Amino acid sequence: MIGARCVCLSLRRCSSSPRPKHAAPAKLFQVQELLEVQNPTDNDVKVHGWVRSVRSQKEILFLHVNDGSSLESLQVVTDSGLEPRELSFGSSVEVQGKLVRSPHKKQNVELAAESIRVVGPCDVLTFPLKYKTRQPLDYLRQFPHVRCRSNSLSALLRIRSEATAAIHSFFKDNGYLHVHTPIITSNDCEGASPSLEVFKVKPANKDGEPEDNPHFFNVPAFLTVSGQLHLEVMTGAFTKAFTFGPTFRAENSQTRRHLAEFYMVEAELAFVDRLQEIMQVMEDLFKRVTDTVLSRCPQDVGLFHKHVAPGQEGKLEQMLKNPFVIMSYTEAMEILKHARHVFQYKPEWGLDLQREHEKYLVNHCGEIPVFVFNYPYDLKPFYMRDNEDGPHHTVAAVDLLVPEIGELCGGSLREDRLDLLRCRLQRLGQEDAYQWYLELRQFGSTPHGGFGMGFERYLQCILGVENIKDVIPFPRFPRSCVL
Ligand code: 4AD
Ligand code: MG
Repeated sequence: MIGARCVCLSLRRCSSSPRPKHAAPAKLFQVQELLEVQNPTDNDVKVHGWVRSVRSQKEILFLHVNDGSSLESLQVVTDSGLEPRELSFGSSVEVQGKLVRSPHKKQNVELAAESIRVVGPCDVLTFPLKYKTRQPLDYLRQFPHVRCRSNSLSALLRIRSEATAAIHSFFKDNGYLHVHTPIITSNDCEGASPSLEVFKVKPANKDGEPEDNPHFFNVPAFLTVSGQLHLEVMTGAFTKAFTFGPTFRAENSQTRRHLAEFYMVEAELAFVDRLQEIMQVMEDLFKRVTDTVLSRCPQDVGLFHKHVAPGQEGKLEQMLKNPFVIMSYTEAMEILKHARHVFQYKPEWGLDLQREHEKYLVNHCGEIPVFVFNYPYDLKPFYMRDNEDGPHHTVAAVDLLVPEIGELCGGSLREDRLDLLRCRLQRLGQEDAYQWYLELRQFGSTPHGGFGMGFERYLQCILGVENIKDVIPFPRFPRSCVL
């Protein structure tokens, strides 16, 4: 109680000597900035935030205020007499006072409040978040409009923001040009792939307008499934380019790894004729960005590793310290065929790897991420470079498989030989639509390649989050577009 007595004394002094009218207004700080102060100098400060806890003890009122800038909340202490009527868990407040050294071991500083103003009261009875309760991610998912106020979602959103910045830094430091590839596009990139459904874009019909509205753009337009082809345009002028934006797929798959709207990091490199170079960029990206996130948000990542996915910390450490494994699709098939495991889908050369196969392969490699390269020609989109091999005909494609998630990245060398590309597009009946793409191979073309990494799957992988809907602020998936 020594601490409480100290606080009380300092507060009494404050309340008996009100701030002179001419005093400079207190400066507004974020909670994180105040928590980092080592030697508080009794300066007047102000914070804005939301109340995480309220507790009265004798004549002292304790509050915890969080403004989203850190996992930790700022302890506010004041005389109970200063408690505003509408103060409660969840209310938004403006607190003003002096930052002082805290006598409590848990925090270095606390705010000795001289005034607390409730900016917006909170109806605690109907507020979906409950006082001092860690609510599971699937419960929080029902409340996309308030879940950012929970510790887990706010931690996730800070990690997401740091990871985004780290991805931009990684590419900038390595000489890549950042390009805004379009969201609305007239090609579907993944090459008229029958399994890949796209969203069509058209103006909303106004009452009375004929149903068969001509196309707004003169041609059918879609939401992009990938910025790859536009990045390939850029590799005609820049040796390295990347994009990082939303992509859309109308896949009707209700899985824990699929969204209808997700963010993809995509890189494209000119003058590259070996898949190993692409794999190296994927591995460096994964490891550099993860190192940065771990060092910049240790508490936030710690919350996931402690409460959401115990054991994930050790698994991630293994992924970071070991070189990723590399094997061809044919080798992968051999491993699967000789496995003692009974698969639901029998592994067969020429068939796609199912999630159960991907999981088995990663486990076989000691839960280290695995690159699988050279996939069957018939499985992959038109733009992948033909290896012209046989009897098993393959393309220079590579997928990166990671523990629990399966496919994290997909990439390839691109077909840069005009004649082969034209033949493939002719067979698909797409030669006219991709005339511009063919022309790229005529105007100073280079061997090139690239990849895309699903950003939400990346977050799932490092944090150990089972459901992709919990790593994006507003998930969109079949039969759900809330807010
Ligand atoms: O393997 P994908 O389809 O590759 C491409 O789109 C290439 N054009 C990228 C390129 O080479 N520039 O998608 C890339 C990654 C996948 O490995 C996966 O991580 C993620 O995007 N992904 C999804 N993430 C969430 N929900 C979905 N529906 C996803 N579909 C793909
Ligand atoms: Mg893929």
